[in-house]
Amino acid sequence: MPHAPWTEEETRIRQALCRIGALCYQRGTIVGADGNLSAKLSDGTIVITPTGAMKGFLEPEHMAKVDMQGRPIDQGPRASSEVGIHLVCYQERPDVQAIVHAHPPHAVALTIAEIDMQMPIIPEIIVTIGGIPTAPFGTPGTPELPETIRAIVRCSDTVIMKNHGSVTLGTNLMDAYKKLDMLEHTARILWLAHTARGGLSPLPEAAVQKLLATRAQLGITTRNTLENQCGM
Ligand code: 13P
Repeated sequence: MPHAPWTEEETRIRQALCRIGALCYQRGTIVGADGNLSAKLSDGTIVITPTGAMKGFLEPEHMAKVDMQGRPIDQGPRASSEVGIHLVCYQERPDVQAIVHAHPPHAVALTIAEIDMQMPIIPEIIVTIGGIPTAPFGTPGTPELPETIRAIVRCSDTVIMKNHGSVTLGTNLMDAYKKLDMLEHTARILWLAHTARGGLSPLPEAAVQKLLATRAQLGITTRNTLENQCGM
């Protein structure tokens, strides 16, 4: 399909969307036509994966482009049916430049089993993300779904939508992908521990506070749901 010449920035972002989509597919956090990824250009335009496609096998010219209201701004492919999730994140978080929505199996399984990943258990998660909140169930592909995460993304870069999938926010696509990777790895550990023992216990409060205190020494200033509860 013919297209206007892309800027260097847009070319880089389109290539990154393909690369990270392929990585999600290889790692099993998306299968079939699941998931969607987007990134914001410096002019405020959003480049997003097309609806219904296999996100592990995309080429740069397959991407859709929308404005901050989700309106198409070229004759290219139709944007993801979950564009609303991405718009809510960009609206609530002007500091965020990229979003990855995936279906990580262990993390979604924990929401189905009603095991709360906000519980402080794994030191690395306590220090970085802080806890992983779960959003209530919302119907995919409807305006109801983005509203289930609106308040949560104000204080978390990582959220799991009940029975459905994850949304991770980043300063770039690799950063959003990193949080997905950490989320699913943590969920896997918790699932194994839960299966082996039949339950999970949080670290003692004093240990959690000690870990949170290391954030300043390590220079970590990302939003942290254990410090900024945001009603969770
Ligand atoms: P799209 O192909 O429309 O992005 O939908 C995939 C998906 O995972 C919906 O939750």
